Amino acid sequence: MSETTTLPPLAVAFGADHAGVALKDTLAAALRAEGFAVHDLGTTGSDSVDYPDYADKVAAAVADGTVQLGVLVCGTGIGMSIAANRHPAIRCAVAHDVTSARLSRAHNNANVLALGARLVGELVALDCLHAFIATGFEGGRHAPRVAKLGLAGKPAA
Ligand code: RB5
Repeated sequence: MSETTTLPPLAVAFGADHAGVALKDTLAAALRAEGFAVHDLGTTGSDSVDYPDYADKVAAAVADGTVQLGVLVCGTGIGMSIAANRHPAIRCAVAHDVTSARLSRAHNNANVLALGARLVGELVALDCLHAFIATGFEGGRHAPRVAKLGLAGKPAA
């Protein structure tokens, strides 16, 4: 007799500032329609907000295990990535092409993807997101390098 195991859907947290909110909403809706567990942590409107506040929310959700992956959208992706990478457990990659998105997972075990809504179109952003979600960490020679990115891998000051 065979047993069927149902895995819980991958949980993904989304955050954006006012420059990224429209693209964030589009990406979140796409993943929701595909059956992922989407946690939309804002922002929700066009009022001007500060991107570090939303990077912090998504970083915290990834770091505490509420979600497995995060997606941050601002105008360029740069501010979001800088803010997210201040959290020790976060490896946030800015990607504006599919190869970067894929390799950020395969080689760097990135757990947050940052996108720039003013730099990429919706279809490119969707392709980046799908590549990011579908790719796993390769491990092997990349594992000790990624370990050095964590606090435990830092040489004593
Ligand atoms: C907001 O105008 C813009 O500075 C922000 O979205 C982002 O691009 C910062 O890195």
